[in-house]
Amino acid sequence: MKLYELILSRRSIRQFKPKAISKDILEKLVNAARMAPSAANLQPLEFIIVDEEKLRNKIFGCLKWAAYIAPQGDPQPNREPMAYIVILANAEIKERGYEYDAGAAIENMILAAWEQGVGSCWLLSAERGRIQEILKIPLTHRIDSVLALGYPDEEPIVEMMKNSVKYWKDSHGKLHVPKRKLEDIIHFNRF
Ligand SMILES: Cc1cc2nc3c(=O)[nH]c(=O)nc-3n(C[C@H](O)[C@H](O)[C@H](O)COP(=O)(O)O)c2cc1C
Repeated sequence: MKLYELILSRRSIRQFKPKAISKDILEKLVNAARMAPSAANLQPLEFIIVDEEKLRNKIFGCLKWAAYIAPQGDPQPNREPMAYIVILANAEIKERGYEYDAGAAIENMILAAWEQGVGSCWLLSAERGRIQEILKIPLTHRIDSVLALGYPDEEPIVEMMKNSVKYWKDSHGKLHVPKRKLEDIIHFNRF
């Protein structure tokens, strides 16, 4: 797929196949994050790849999924993520304002994963204190967010947004995701 098609076809995935993601792919994702733009080129971000089953299970217990439809959107048993990338900000490099860097780096990882057929869900709803302990992260490093990864076992559909931003599941369990119309967000030259 071309980049524009990857961008349009990407959806947050919360149901995954029980198929491992290779170390090679996981490393590629962090490399894609490494090359993202960074304010003042400070590069405060670091990344922990988690693919060991025991750790994965522990991290899974620290995450909250699809709040608008909870618990309907939770990954079902045997459909949980097969890996996580925990995004850290090194506070000794930058204490605040690293979120822009994180956004750029994470989108790079999401698209690089999707190019390989790997789906993802970016999560801010995470019990950071518990994850900090589980992964033995020093206090010099803050958890920004968590990227859950795996081969998709669902195909969410984009809808034109009508009255609500809330995504929903239909009677077949398919996720529908409303997006604002292009004409509602685009301005040429003047507002
Ligand atoms: C900064 C950020 C935080 C998010 N946090 C969560 C989260 O904690 N749990 C979750 O299930 N999805 C989370 N998402 C995914 C959004 O729910 C999702 O992007 C949105 O519903 C639009 O769907 P789409 O990604 O398929 O376009 C987050 C997305 C972003 C950008």
